[in-house]
Amino acid sequence: MTIYVFSQLILNWYHINGRKNLPWKKDKTLYKVWISEIMLQQTTVKTAIPYFKNFISRFPNIQSLNQSKLDDILCLWSGLGYYKRAENIYKTVKIIKEEFQEKFPTGFSDLIKLPGIGRSTAGAILSLSLDYFFPILEGNVKRILMRYYGIIGYVTEKKIEQKLWYLIELITPIHNTGSFNQGIMDIGALICTPKNPKCNLCPLIQKCIAYKEKNWIKYPLKKKK
Ligand code: ADE
Repeated sequence: MTIYVFSQLILNWYHINGRKNLPWKKDKTLYKVWISEIMLQQTTVKTAIPYFKNFISRFPNIQSLNQSKLDDILCLWSGLGYYKRAENIYKTVKIIKEEFQEKFPTGFSDLIKLPGIGRSTAGAILSLSLDYFFPILEGNVKRILMRYYGIIGYVTEKKIEQKLWYLIELITPIHNTGSFNQGIMDIGALICTPKNPKCNLCPLIQKCIAYKEKNWIKYPLKKKK
């Protein structure tokens, strides 16, 4: 299957089945997408939704967050875990005030310097909010690529990570990047799940190596506990 067909299958699937009602998709702003992406780094969509709604009703924009104390943010984060993320939000707001005149930056190189924003999160923020052309590589995407291409290894291996970045850069379409990125994550969360994937619903079934081998369980390899 050509790279073009891969991305087109994802886009077609997203158009019909994608999760378009997620709260961070309504009245999208860079700020809201940033908060949602930080929440979604270690939290599932289902768990993140009520926290996100609460957070945005208390702090609807960067100006309101600027008035907050770290404790206010930690309070809203209570129960979500990985509290470093709340600290990173607090630090980021200060940087945006001092260096970007209280406006969320839109340059990739500015974004990746902010606390808690790496290559994938920066790409997610810019593609999902502004449809900029940047690939993302989070857990769902890694699992799909490893199964589809039959890549054997651990997601934590540097060599594997480099290979996956190479592939996702090739596959990600220049147009409709945001829909493609949301679509591939939705497929990972709803269909190509870590356990018992629903392969008969997957738009990528035809050329998927893991499906052909009937052996999704070995992609990616898991460290023995
Ligand atoms: N994981 C990280 N970002 C996500 C998003 N926007 N939707 C679903 N899962 C995600």
